[in-house]
This record gives sequence, structure tokens and C-alpha cells, in this order.
Amino acid sequence: MKNYTSISVLSNLEEMIQSAMRLKQNPLQNLELGRDKTMVMLFFNSSLRTRLSTEKAARQLGMHVSILNVNEAWQLEFEEGTKMNMNTSEHIKEAARILSLYADILAVRAFPSLKDKQLDESEQVLKSFVKYATVPIINMESATGHPLQALADALTITEHKSTKKPKVVLSWAPHSKALPQSVPNSFVEMMQLMEADFSITHPKGYELNPNITKNTKINYNQDEALEHADFVYVKNWSSYEPYGKILNKDETWMMTKAKLGNAKFMHCLPIRRNVVATDEVIDHENSLIIQQADNRTFATQAILQEVLNGLTSK
Ligand code: CP
Repeated sequence: MKNYTSISVLSNLEEMIQSAMRLKQNPLQNLELGRDKTMVMLFFNSSLRTRLSTEKAARQLGMHVSILNVNEAWQLEFEEGTKMNMNTSEHIKEAARILSLYADILAVRAFPSLKDKQLDESEQVLKSFVKYATVPIINMESATGHPLQALADALTITEHKSTKKPKVVLSWAPHSKALPQSVPNSFVEMMQLMEADFSITHPKGYELNPNITKNTKINYNQDEALEHADFVYVKNWSSYEPYGKILNKDETWMMTKAKLGNAKFMHCLPIRRNVVATDEVIDHENSLIIQQADNRTFATQAILQEVLNGLTSK
């Protein structure tokens, strides 16, 4: 594997999940693989889980890790041919090539603006690093996707399912801020690859990008959608059309224990308690949120292992 920018680059999902499971059993089994290799992690946005689980995954493969909060460095310019007489000080063309001197792998987190759909969908930041860096790029959540989270979620479902084809529901939840569609996009793509009876439930108007949802079932009746669910992934996202808006904050969409029934509860975190889901749901033994966060390490380690294998086989 050269870059891990989206789920579409996974050639064998099942093998990747099995690899993550083996690493979870014995995290230090390939400590030599990343010896003398460095990963530089670039954060344009905040993070708790991604930052620490990705660092841990790299260290468990023997790598060195450097972290740069990009907003504390020179402000980067991404436009081609622009006259840089405003706020930006350094062009991505130089920055990506220079970072490639210091790193064997670059990992990038860059959220969407939620203001300019075309710009966000162009994945300007992530794709500029892919274009100008000379080392592999890992997506730590971009404008439209969070493939590391989705792999950890696939691992979590695989570990906890009790039937071959579980019923999985992605359920929209209210939130006071307009949030990206990255996590639901990648979760939808992942469920389309897995053996699952998968559907999405949300109020009318919160349809995700139809190029991503494709033929996935959408049910606007949350109670009906949740019937007999094995896993319920709860997540807020802002509207896709009109882009990046809060259309409603209908509290009746908050996940409660009564709605959840006996299903396992999933969320990528961070989560706003008693807005997205009640305390009772989050703290219940059927909540998998801590397991999902734990699995971030092993899912990422499986990806890094693939990328490192690609480096050494050159
Ligand atoms: N789920 C997730 O990506 O968490 P962070 O934003 O804290 O990294």
C-alpha cells in the first residue's frame, strides 16, 4: 500500500481486519519493521484519539514520531500560481517536499471548511500532500472521509457481532455545531464492503452525498429503522444540500435506551452527553465507544504495517 487516503484503497478488507486482530493479540510482534523510520503527523485540527492512537501504533512498529500542529507553523498556501502577498507564508510545494526529507510517512488531519462544497470535495489539503510529498500519506480525517476510524469500527463490529450478517443502523443525532460528513461517509463506505444489513436513518434533508450512499437504504422513521438492530452507530452531521448547515436540532433524534433496545451503541467520539445520546446509553454495558477508541490503535497499526512493507519492498 502506498497511501491510505480512503477506504477504496483497501484491496482486502477481511485480511486487514485479521491483521489488526493479530496485532491486538501481540502489538509488538513487528517492532523491527519501522526501525529507523519516522512518521510526521500534521494536525490542522484538534484531536485526542487519532493523535495518540496513531502515535502508539507507529511506536509499536518501532517508528519514531514527530507531531506538528500546522497552525503553529508557517501558514500554508495551497493555490497554484497565486501571488502570496496575503496571509500565507509557505507554499505546499516546498513544505511537502521538505517534510518528506524529515519523514518516511506523513499523516495529515485537515477538516472541511463546510462553507465551500467544491473546495472541500476537491480534498485540496490531502491531495496536495499526495501530489507534492515524496513519501506515503495517511489520512487522519480529511474533508470528506475518516478511513482510520472506519477500519477501527469494522474491527469492533467484527469482534462483537453474534450473527454472520448483523443489522447495522447509522442514526443521525442532533448537535449544536455544524459537523463534517467525514465519519458517516467512511462508515457508510465501510458497511457497503462488509457483510451487513445496513441502513441509515435521519430527518429529511440530511441525505449524505448520494455518490457515497448509492443504494443504501434510508429510513426517515428512526423507530422503524432501529427495530431489531444489532449495532447502532449514532452520529451528527451537517446537511450536504444545502452544504454544511444545521437544518434542525430535533431532540427527539437523541439516542435513548428505549430506542436502542438491546443493540450495541457505537460513536467515534468525542460525544456531547445528553445531546447526541443520553448518559444511560453512553455508560451502558452495550456501549462500544471505549472498544472503538482502543481499536483505533490496532486498525492504524495494520495500515502502517502495510505502508511500511511497501517501503521496504521498493
Ligand atoms: N474519533 C476521532 O477521530 O477522535 P479525535 O477527533 O479525538 O481524533
